[in-house]
Amino acid sequence: MTDTGMLLTDCSQILTMAGSGLGIVEHGAIRIREGRIVEVADHPLSAAEGETEVDCHGRVVLPGFIDPHTHLVFGGWRQNEFEMRLAGRTYKEIAQAGGGILSTVIHTRLATEDELYNRALERLHEMMAWGTTTVEAKSGYGLDTEVELRMLRVARRLGELGFCRVVPTFLGAHSVPKRTPKDVYIKRLETEMIPAVASAGLARFCDVFCEDFVFNAAESTRILEAGKKHGLVPTIHADEIEASGGAEVAARVGAASASHLLRPSDAGLEAMAEAGVVAVLLPGTCFFLRAAHKPPVAKMRDLGIVMALASDFNPGSCPMLAQPLTAQFGCLHYGLTIEEALSGITVNAARALQLDSEIGTLEPGKAADVVVTDVPDYRHIVYRLGHNPVWMTIYGGRVVHRQF
Ligand code: NIG
Ligand code: FE
Repeated sequence: MTDTGMLLTDCSQILTMAGSGLGIVEHGAIRIREGRIVEVADHPLSAAEGETEVDCHGRVVLPGFIDPHTHLVFGGWRQNEFEMRLAGRTYKEIAQAGGGILSTVIHTRLATEDELYNRALERLHEMMAWGTTTVEAKSGYGLDTEVELRMLRVARRLGELGFCRVVPTFLGAHSVPKRTPKDVYIKRLETEMIPAVASAGLARFCDVFCEDFVFNAAESTRILEAGKKHGLVPTIHADEIEASGGAEVAARVGAASASHLLRPSDAGLEAMAEAGVVAVLLPGTCFFLRAAHKPPVAKMRDLGIVMALASDFNPGSCPMLAQPLTAQFGCLHYGLTIEEALSGITVNAARALQLDSEIGTLEPGKAADVVVTDVPDYRHIVYRLGHNPVWMTIYGGRVVHRQF
């Protein structure tokens, strides 16, 4: 089938996110051909023969949202733990009593690949309806080779559907499986699981839950270095629940990104800035866990650390998957500016995933991943608390979601 292209007309504001800032083009149009953006104009364009015209009715258009940290694939939910936390128990107490991640491990191991796929597909549809066109998806609820590979195969199959880009991350180091000494498990990660994942080409990144009560800084370094040897780019859950030196580890191993960062040390942040590690902030999680700490955003800003925003969607610490809501929490809970929040779910999220040459901005040559909103002014995306601003989601030049 020949591609006759698409033309988005009557866009009140196009947030190209190119250059510094929002890169706003007023009263513009966007031409798309063969899945790529070919022109962003600051004046009306008329449709060529055969080109599909989408009249945006004077609304805001911006890059498809990128969610650079999620646990999209899992079995079961954990509403019981939510209730326990409302009654005063902490995430750490629940985890140490055998709940938390390990309870999702039980449900994930019991699920077939198709069951995991079907559940994750439902959530992916929901994400697309909220404008997500690229989602990172972690394993980490198998904690053995077979189930970790199963989770990553599910992520691959979801990406192959062609509705959303799915970036797979191996998170075998999410927890230590029951009845296995930690040292034995770390050896298994190094000698069996990482090589199996890498040789099957099933992950781009290797992640670790770095906390003194899970994998400490030295253990995390060991695991991420093992991933690097097999071509997996390091990333890390750092300094969330306790200060554990995670930011320092991220800098030391040259991680693409470090997530959470509620309690990084000053030295760790400085090292991250020096090493160019992207901070992936997860304000939905912080809010949902009613965490006492917030990341030192002002310090990150001063150091020039690139800040991305992710949902951290998972059944325990954040069952919220909508990137516009993440942006709202970013502003209201973390004190980000509207510009920082919108950069966080687009261009900076692309940097966190090392995909910024392909996605995250609306520029000629980039993938045509575009969100057409139903709002007349970009500030509404953050200001209209709880509102889904997405009218149409376009992935690779194809409409994959449309609100009627
Ligand atoms: O990023 N902190 C570790 N991983 C997730 C939580 C996963 C879970 O509780 O199931 C997070 O918050
Ligand atoms: Fe996470």
